[in-house]
Amino acid sequence: MAKVIVGLEVGMGAVKAVELTHRKNGYQLRKLAKLEIPFEDYGPTEREKIIVKVIKDLINKYGINTRRVVSGVGGESVIVRRITLPLITEKEISQAVKWQAEEYIPYSMDQVYLGYHVLNQRFSQEKREEMAVILVGVKRETIEKHLWLLRQAGVSPKAIGVNTVSLFNVFQLSNLDETDGIAILEIGHSTTSIVLLDKGSPSLIRDVNLGGFHITETIAEKIGTSFATAEQIKQRYGLVTSNGSEGEVDLNDGLKELSTKEKVDKSLVDQVIKKSMEDLVEEIIHSFEYYASQREGRPIKKVVLSGGTAQLRNIDKFLSQELGLPVEIISPFAKITYESKKFQLDYLARVGPMFTVALGFALQEVKQI
Ligand SMILES: Nc1ncnc2c1ncn2[C@@H]1O[C@H](COP(=O)(O)OP(=O)(O)OP(=O)(O)O)[C@@H](O)[C@H]1O
Ligand SMILES: [Mg+2]
Repeated sequence: MAKVIVGLEVGMGAVKAVELTHRKNGYQLRKLAKLEIPFEDYGPTEREKIIVKVIKDLINKYGINTRRVVSGVGGESVIVRRITLPLITEKEISQAVKWQAEEYIPYSMDQVYLGYHVLNQRFSQEKREEMAVILVGVKRETIEKHLWLLRQAGVSPKAIGVNTVSLFNVFQLSNLDETDGIAILEIGHSTTSIVLLDKGSPSLIRDVNLGGFHITETIAEKIGTSFATAEQIKQRYGLVTSNGSEGEVDLNDGLKELSTKEKVDKSLVDQVIKKSMEDLVEEIIHSFEYYASQREGRPIKKVVLSGGTAQLRNIDKFLSQELGLPVEIISPFAKITYESKKFQLDYLARVGPMFTVALGFALQEVKQI
């Protein structure tokens, strides 16, 4: 029987939901919903109230089915590692994961929730059968806070996942052939997830606390505008390519007019955004170098970009230049059917990257439904 699952990402910049029908022959898209979390310099308690309100508003506005939700967490308190285990039973895996977790997780074991995800990969090494397992450790307070937010908004999730694993699930759905030396980068509002694939499965997985927020903050500071204006400037101008062209992006896409006072030099914005991305680029390069050092120098060959910041104009060209690699923007809905009267192809292509994590949650099979 067809099942409905709603993937819900409560990001720092926006709440996103993807409602899918799971059918025998694939997935069908039913709903896409997004509401931004307004930025103000509130204290954490005030901010939590605002997030709860945004989740509630999204549910009401789009008629989201709150009994079918899979959500998840991300950020630096989420530790994800690939480990290799001999072929053992499901029960033995839990034991082995617990045992290995102490080595990988820098928190005391009573402070973390542990989980694992067996990759469909069995390979022979020195004639031994082994399996790759993703070990997940999340600080209890991170999960508890997330569940609290959801429950306040009237959502009792069926399962809680992890952003990076969700990204991998989406990638795996559409890319069956090219799976070695691939970097999936999800640049959101406050976090960037880096997932590096080695022969089809994630080998290096980490979250860095840098993203679109940092870009906007830097524009506001260096150009001397409010945060809201800096956000407008970021979305309007973006980066300039080396030949000075603006790329093919609709400049008036849902943005209010900037007043004459707010208009700034395009090349100054370009410079400031590039400067604000230096630390992130450095983190990415370090991860790539580490990855190559673990694989006898075999490097990352291609980058697949997702997250709301993938919509920054010319970010693909900029990263391609900085990293010396081809950079492609993800098409998360490529293998998902939808009614063409409900969703338009160019709309999905444009906003798709922002929904990648939510889509990954919606792909999860939730057995107890
Ligand atoms: N056209 C655009 N140009 C530049 N940046 C954009 C554009 N559209 C959205 N963004 C940025 O994308 C970010 C939001 O992306 P996303 O929804 O992926 O983040 P999030 O999931 O809320 O955050 P996180 O995952 O870090 O908690 C914001 O920083 C926003 O400014
Ligand atoms: Mg996000």
